[in-house]
Amino acid sequence: MAASSLTRAIAERLEGKVALITGGASGIGECTAKLFANHGAKVAIADIQDERAHSVVDAIGQARSTFIHCDVTNEDHVRNAVDATVSKYNKLDIMFNNAGVCIVPTPRIVETKKSDFERVLNVNTTGVFLGMKHAARVMIPARTGAIISSSSMAAELAGCGPHAYTCSKCGVVGLTKNVAVELGQFGIRVNCISPYGAATPMATEFMGVGAEEVEQFFYSKANLKGTVLKVDDIANAALFLASDDAKYVSGQNLVVDGGFSITNAAFQMFENAET
Ligand SMILES: NC(=O)c1ccc[n+]([C@@H]2O[C@H](COP(=O)([O-])OP(=O)(O)OC[C@H]3O[C@@H](n4cnc5c(N)ncnc54)[C@H](O)[C@@H]3O)[C@@H](O)[C@H]2O)c1
Repeated sequence: MAASSLTRAIAERLEGKVALITGGASGIGECTAKLFANHGAKVAIADIQDERAHSVVDAIGQARSTFIHCDVTNEDHVRNAVDATVSKYNKLDIMFNNAGVCIVPTPRIVETKKSDFERVLNVNTTGVFLGMKHAARVMIPARTGAIISSSSMAAELAGCGPHAYTCSKCGVVGLTKNVAVELGQFGIRVNCISPYGAATPMATEFMGVGAEEVEQFFYSKANLKGTVLKVDDIANAALFLASDDAKYVSGQNLVVDGGFSITNAAFQMFENAET
């Protein structure tokens, strides 16, 4: 392959694809929407933050993106977001169930209100279920599609998030695997991503500090040193799972945590192991 066509092939990993991204107005979803569009996809952003979402659409360009107001806990909204995407762009290739919440502050189990617990599960798990359901509705007849959802390192390692959040993200991993088993026969791949901490509005709000302090905190606890997790790294994981590069990857939880969840920080066996 000539160098110029190789460059083009790398630059356009989603050329001709149509993606719907929930929670696309901010943080990981916003970054992923821009990355997908840069790789040639048409992107529909579904969110409850209308103003922010419109500015993301303006930044990407109206020719390549659109906004659909959607509360992922409302089935009519999710159904409409999928149908509006198909009606505008004729199909749906990629569904990224990314919208999520984490209630502040971290409550102890005896102080956790049932209503707060249910709200987190409603957005983070039921919202993902609804996204999978309605994406599958249009992907099954097409016999193709990629469904990606946002889980978290909280699903990998206990004690990393509030109880409701951890529970909701474990649910995303379980749903991903179960739905992947059902939808494989239709050529639909179903995966999720479990990131370590990144300085998004959710993280700064939850921790009550600025983006720099969030990064410093996560860097100090990280296994992988010399680099910091950015939203671009998570968007790149979504790009991989959405693209044909992952054409035989399904039922997987892609953990983007620099090895944090596979180690036990308490032992520190390799501390100061630099030579
Ligand atoms: N930032 C992190 O450190 C981190 C780590 C692991 C997992 N995650 C997950 O990544 C996803 C994105 O989070 P983020 O960090 O980019 O946060 P964020 O707050 O920047 O973005 C979340 C988006 O979801 C939207 N949203 C919330 N409730 C919604 C609803 N009911 N319907 C539709 N949209 C709704 C928000 O308006 C916002 O635009 C979440 O699922 C989160 O749990 C984040």
